[in-house]
Amino acid sequence: MSKSEIKPETGGERKAESGESSGRRRFLGTAGAAAVAAAFGIPVIMSVRSCVPNVLYEEPQRFKIGGLDKFTDGPTFIADKRLFVFRDKNTFHCIGATCTHLGCTVQLVRLKSGEPGNDYEFQCPCHGSKYHADGVNYAGPAPRPLPYFKIEIAPDDGQLVVDMSQIADRGWRLTV
Ligand code: FES
Repeated sequence: MSKSEIKPETGGERKAESGESSGRRRFLGTAGAAAVAAAFGIPVIMSVRSCVPNVLYEEPQRFKIGGLDKFTDGPTFIADKRLFVFRDKNTFHCIGATCTHLGCTVQLVRLKSGEPGNDYEFQCPCHGSKYHADGVNYAGPAPRPLPYFKIEIAPDDGQLVVDMSQIADRGWRLTV
């Protein structure tokens, strides 16, 4: 190779090369800083986050279900609360509709040959549990009777209030 074939490096080429390598250096520096920030920042964020409790919003246990005129004699199913409210003229009681086996919603079934006051029962469609009209289990895997909940009249607007935190005795009635 003759001397004349050797291309001398020009200042312009040096500048271009140097600009390219400084860009690479800048990129590597930024990437490194980002990696360090992630390595230290994520644990800090996680530990701060762990100090904030996870909030579980539970449905209120005490709620209004409507005025007295909403309830005719006999059972009324409150679907969104899974409750049956029973009215017998001026007395009320409330039975939970959640099966005591695995929590399915029981259905109220009218019995053809039922005696007055005992002409229906509760049946669970899931595994066949059955409950008498008073909520006492008598067939299937349900281990306990359906619960009774206390109800009262709201002093401000006269609506019925169910308190599912207050389990009532089977014979408990609200008289209005
Ligand atoms: S959930 Fe009702 S019988 Fe199983």
